[in-house]
Amino acid sequence: MKTAVAFTTHPSPRTARTVGALSLLLLVWVLSALLAASDPVQGIRMVIRLTARTSLVFFLVAFTASALVQLWRGPRTQWLLLHRRAFGLAFAFSHAVHLAAIVAFARLDATGFAQQSSLGNMITGGIAYLFIALMAATSWDGAVRWLGARWLQLLHITGAYYIWVSFMVTFGKRIPVSAGYMLPVVVLVAALILRLVARYRKNAVAHSS
Ligand code: HEM
Repeated sequence: MKTAVAFTTHPSPRTARTVGALSLLLLVWVLSALLAASDPVQGIRMVIRLTARTSLVFFLVAFTASALVQLWRGPRTQWLLLHRRAFGLAFAFSHAVHLAAIVAFARLDATGFAQQSSLGNMITGGIAYLFIALMAATSWDGAVRWLGARWLQLLHITGAYYIWVSFMVTFGKRIPVSAGYMLPVVVLVAALILRLVARYRKNAVAHSS
């Protein structure tokens, strides 16, 4: 099975290099945002928003790579598929920075943080973080033997859709504040459609052969 094979391979130097490069770029960007901010709280809030957006980009690459190859096989889409794991891990790193910035925000400005979040938020966000941690921890060699291919696949598929919903909700609820938030919502819907069309095509080919 294709997915199981992907889980059994060692993290290649290429994956490590790509994750390292993406994480470094992100850290430089975060640092520049902090340095450019007028005060520490504004800087931290900027980092929260910045990492939410970088996380979305990394997540979308990992979420759609396989569907893109299925629909438009070519060197570019194959490159994306080859680096899918690296983008998944870069997403986990970016979201770890999101979490670190959230903790800093809560410490620096408890009142401001309370206005921006709720208990429900923290529970649903906490579940998302649990999925992210489990998915990152099982991205390496040995996970398939430890969990079994079916459970591993179930974890990664459930986690991916849970994260997709989390992005839809967190970006979607900001649309009344700014119409610009329509863009990530539309891109998320397009990514989902892409996956569904690719799966439909794959099933159609399998049934016809
Ligand atoms: C316990 C978990 C989480 C907490 C407490 C939390 C908290 C926050 C806060 C306070 C903001 C607003 C920052 C500001 O405007 O100053 C924010 C923004 C955001 N968060 Fe999180 N977050 C959590 C997890 C997540 C997760 C799991 C996702 C998505 C997978 C996510 C996606 C976003 C997005 C999309 C934004 C909006 C960014 C923007 O305005 O462009 N967050 N978060």
